[in-house]
Amino acid sequence: MDGEGRRIAFGSRCHYCQSSPVFRHYAARITERLAERYAGHPALAMWHIGNEYIGFGCHCDASVTHFRRWLADRYGTVEALNDAWGTAFWGQRYDSFDHVGTPAARSRTVSGPNPGQLLDFARFSDAAALECYRAERDIVRRHTPELPVTTNFMGSFKHLDYWRWAAEEDVVTLDVYPGPQDQEGPLLAACNFDLMRSLRGGKPWLVLESATGRNLTDVRNHARPAGQLRPRSLQAVARGADSVMFFQWRASRAGAERFHSAMVPHGGTRTRTWREVTTLGKDVARLAELSGGVRDRADVAVVLDWESWWALEGPDHPANDLRFTDRLLDHYRPLWDANIAVDFVRPHSDLSAYRLLVVPNLYLVDDAGADNITEYVRAGGHLLMSYFSGIVDEHDRVRSGGHPGAFRDLLGIEIDEFAPLRPGETCGLRHAGHTGTAVEWQDVIDLAGAEALAAYTDGELKGGPAVTRHRFGTGTATYLGTSPDRETLRRLVLDCVTGAGVTPAPATPEGVEAVRRRAADGTEHLFLLNHTTDEVTVDLGSGLSQPVDLLADDPQIAATGRLRLPPYGVAVVRDVPRNQP
Ligand code: GLA
Repeated sequence: MDGEGRRIAFGSRCHYCQSSPVFRHYAARITERLAERYAGHPALAMWHIGNEYIGFGCHCDASVTHFRRWLADRYGTVEALNDAWGTAFWGQRYDSFDHVGTPAARSRTVSGPNPGQLLDFARFSDAAALECYRAERDIVRRHTPELPVTTNFMGSFKHLDYWRWAAEEDVVTLDVYPGPQDQEGPLLAACNFDLMRSLRGGKPWLVLESATGRNLTDVRNHARPAGQLRPRSLQAVARGADSVMFFQWRASRAGAERFHSAMVPHGGTRTRTWREVTTLGKDVARLAELSGGVRDRADVAVVLDWESWWALEGPDHPANDLRFTDRLLDHYRPLWDANIAVDFVRPHSDLSAYRLLVVPNLYLVDDAGADNITEYVRAGGHLLMSYFSGIVDEHDRVRSGGHPGAFRDLLGIEIDEFAPLRPGETCGLRHAGHTGTAVEWQDVIDLAGAEALAAYTDGELKGGPAVTRHRFGTGTATYLGTSPDRETLRRLVLDCVTGAGVTPAPATPEGVEAVRRRAADGTEHLFLLNHTTDEVTVDLGSGLSQPVDLLADDPQIAATGRLRLPPYGVAVVRDVPRNQP
């Protein structure tokens, strides 16, 4: 049942309630039978539980009862819940957990919802889905304790906290579907690949599903351009995947996805897709030595915290159209363009090995997370943090005493007011002699130890700081009080990269991605992926001792070190020293 009180109809898929005892009973029974039947089967290599859990927040009676139980476990007493949710406001006090409901849709209430209730319902819906996964996982583990268990993730998918899920899996697996015509497809995919690798500390992961060609997500769904399958698939291997798999083997004739691409299209083995798939199979076989290899820890880490994401996109904020993944990509894009390796982390992760920590819009953070980030900088770390960070605690309660409550001392600023720009409005900005523009958000910043790195050149805040920098302990904290245009943000991010002493990455022609991955024996490999339809040349330098391209029929690279990549070409060069190309 959705928040409007409507029952989800039968006739599509995923029409189950994850809190329903009846659903759980039969799901367990089917799992038990499957495990009994296939345990010991020679073809059984791994269990894949469910399919793309979505954490649908159901509002039926069974879900309400389950939510109450979950809240009672979390808070112990109803007084603690009242305190966390601030129910004194608007007369919402509860006397018993039995009086609490799921948050109704806005259309069914007079005014806005309670933010603490909304956030806990997001947590609960995630937790209820994870319970379903765990129940089935435990059954198959009983039958085949030696086999790994997974469920497929959907990248930066909002409703499930994959940090928690990954800890319950033996291997992380991903379904990845950037559209063949999406210009930013390789960027989106790279970001998701880095996230998957990071979820289990850099261990190899698997692409469980991708598309050989068309998927059906847009109004017009174009076939994949000839040749594009190769770089798009091997990009995952470059970023730590030990497999490239597809939905689906043979194109189906019936059902909703009969026009979704497949390894064997409706035209059979006389098709271009089939030829490209079999070539890719040979490529992957040539990369076997990479399997099991773990990538080095990156110098740069980006913080992604699901609970903060849920709260950031909640209602009744100074700006109600902030989209976390847009801001995340803003910060990731310049690093990807510059071939700089990135790991994702949580506010509580061990940050000590990173030179630069990038924190896009961490609205919610608990004390332990805030302390961890603060101590990282005090001990010499470099931080780049963006607006509306450190504002609320884990219950979405504002940290008082001046914004940003969790990071005021660290950033050396006080935010006197939030002054979001109107939709479509821009503001001039000057940074290091360069003029740019800002959109979406402005903080009215008072400097309290920090210096201004960039200032507004017009508007209400003309002359005021837009970007600040503060020396804190033996580290440096840079703060963005607005959302700058791409070029300005690129300059700011790369300025932090240089300031933090991040190992410089190789420059490659535009649209050519360079990624390093270690093989299990420790040998370093350089992937060069040409995502463009132009032929390009990459200069590996002449100091290489016998470099070898694992994908080429004639694997030796000429002594000049110049490597020609055809349109959509890929090379995987063994043993390239760090300063090359
Ligand atoms: C998801 C699902 C598949 C299929 C594909 C293509 O990844 O897991 O069942 O529906 O999308 O749309």
